[in-house]
Amino acid sequence: MKFCDLHRQYLEYQSEIDAAIASVIKSTTFINGPDIPALEAELAEFSGVPYALTCSSGSDAISIALMAMDIKPGDEVICPAFTFISTGTMISIVGAVPIFADVDSVTFNLDPDKIEAKITDKTKGIIAVSVFGQCANFDAINQIAKKHGLWVMEDAAQSFGAEYKGKLSCSLTDIATTSFFPAKPLGCYGDGGAVFSTDPEIAEKIKMIRNHGQEKRYHHKIIGVNGRMDTLQAAIIRVKLKHFQHEIIERNRVANSYSKTLNDIVDTPRILEHNMSVWAQYTIQVSGRDNLREKLAQYDIPTAVHYPMPLPSQEAFKNLGQGRNFPVSNRLSETVISLPMHPFLSNDEIEYIAKKIKEALHG
Ligand SMILES: Cc1ncc(COP(=O)(O)O)c(C=O)c1O
Repeated sequence: MKFCDLHRQYLEYQSEIDAAIASVIKSTTFINGPDIPALEAELAEFSGVPYALTCSSGSDAISIALMAMDIKPGDEVICPAFTFISTGTMISIVGAVPIFADVDSVTFNLDPDKIEAKITDKTKGIIAVSVFGQCANFDAINQIAKKHGLWVMEDAAQSFGAEYKGKLSCSLTDIATTSFFPAKPLGCYGDGGAVFSTDPEIAEKIKMIRNHGQEKRYHHKIIGVNGRMDTLQAAIIRVKLKHFQHEIIERNRVANSYSKTLNDIVDTPRILEHNMSVWAQYTIQVSGRDNLREKLAQYDIPTAVHYPMPLPSQEAFKNLGQGRNFPVSNRLSETVISLPMHPFLSNDEIEYIAKKIKEALHG
């Protein structure tokens, strides 16, 4: 059994994906080929955000977005203590300081009640992650940001396609980023990402930053990076985007089925009523997690831990000295375990996994 079965997905769309790849190779427009603007128009239409700009990865999307928001060395950006490392390291990469705040115990997303205590006169913005596919509490976060004159960025690496109060992820904040890493809900066959903005000036800046700061060829207006998506990845995402709505429905089928069978024996994920998750992960909480993982591995059931250590405890951030007072993040990092999750997981497989979890926990 695979944790995220990309092979099954490839077989489903094989003829379309092979044709898309062959067409890029035949055209040899490997950089800035026609699939790039075509994908950007489709992503803008899908998300309802006027400017969707592709780039080289979800991590680069965050650093490019921060550069576009004029982040300077010494500025502070608030972000959750419980997330993938990039959310924090990309703040450091541009010379700013990540200021970690704890998450809430229901959604595992940035807790709005923990934000204001972290705001100083150096704070410029807040990055809220919509972790595991469920959007953060953006009404509350946007309100706090407005009160203090800050911007908000959604790190939607795990939530592209999710809904919050009827609006789509990536359309909820001043700026948003996503990742098309292969195992993400909408993934490519390598690295890829995108930045979303409603502001035409910011969009122009993002276009320049991702392409060496170029305004036109060999005329470099600002400092930029090589942060473009390659055409092959864009062509593959275009194929997968056509099937994405159906995959979201299937991901919800898998999650509901897991929850129905596991609700009574483990702490299953909770999706707030106003949210629709894309289930980047199906993550339960158990004590004795490592023991359970070992037992499941014996039955060929792969699992993963997202994430075993809160960001402030990572060695890379030790120098910031932000301590360990992140009780929810600390507890989650000791109890979370993610189960196989992809749209092609059959009901029989889900039943098998649930049965083995029950046996492992209760003999
Ligand atoms: C929350 C979050 N932010 C950022 C990233 C970085 O994306 P990428 O791997 O495409 O650089 C990821 C990917 O794992 C992520 O989960």
